[in-house]
Amino acid sequence: MLIFNNQNELVAHLAAVSKATTNIGFVPTMGALHEGHLSLLRAAVANNDLTVISIFVNPTQFNNADDLAKYPRTLEADVAKIKTVSDKIIVFAPSVDDIYQGNTVSESFNFDGLEHQMEGQFRPGHFNGVGTIVKRLFEIVKPTNAYFGEKDFQQLQIVKKMTAKEKLPVTVIGCPILREPNGLAMSSRNERLTDTERKEAAIIYKILKESRKLFAQKSAAEVTQWVQKSFAKHPAFALEYFQIADEATLLPCVRKSQNKKYRAFIAVFVNNVRLIDTISLN
Ligand code: PAJ
Repeated sequence: MLIFNNQNELVAHLAAVSKATTNIGFVPTMGALHEGHLSLLRAAVANNDLTVISIFVNPTQFNNADDLAKYPRTLEADVAKIKTVSDKIIVFAPSVDDIYQGNTVSESFNFDGLEHQMEGQFRPGHFNGVGTIVKRLFEIVKPTNAYFGEKDFQQLQIVKKMTAKEKLPVTVIGCPILREPNGLAMSSRNERLTDTERKEAAIIYKILKESRKLFAQKSAAEVTQWVQKSFAKHPAFALEYFQIADEATLLPCVRKSQNKKYRAFIAVFVNNVRLIDTISLN
């Protein structure tokens, strides 16, 4: 399997092996891979001539230094997992310097307001960091198709918006959320939970599923109140936000409209581990 740590070498290799007609599938990640990431890789391998995965813990998207420091870095285990999908996948695992050339700062983006909702409110600067790295990786890899998980639905919408606004020749494809058997959305951060916390965290998806049922009858405000009360009964979980929003604009749902698609978004702290999840409501 080919592993590149340097963007110039990757660019040279891709130029040598691909023609104008070669479809390149790309899966950007921060490593600590799990089945959720591997499902994106499988989609890329099935639909492209070449697949590239990047593994890069991007410092500019972390608004919390402790979270960045504690982010797991497990390159060897990641490579072993990638091999189980295909040993033809190209791995790009650059250093911070190779990407940022000594200037580790974000570009400033306008995502037409998508960046001000939910994660944008609680993680200032996060989406400028995501936009910066995804744009840079797209410029290096020049993918035909890029795969992102609906787990980070706001990120998916923001990447689609950036691609459209910057006129990048990439098709951004959203892929379904993979869950643990108890319903907890797979996440690299789950590794930081104790066994008990991980079991109890099943409640997040249970409450999301219940909120979908309730939303068929009740208003967004009523569902939100019910969710807040439900979490108040579980002191081990601190609800940061629960928001029902329009999928396209991510604006909060004030009054339901028949022709809009809605989604519930949630962020919850279990001790100091922050978990996010989302569910389509109609
Ligand atoms: P990371 O958290 O490593 O996630 C990489 C990709 O895997 C994202 O598109 C994410 O939505 C997807 N993913 C994570 N958990 C998933 C699950 N349970 N089911 C399906 N897909 C899942 O997201 C990032 O990295 C970074 O922000 C990145 C885009 C790489 C930019 O640095």
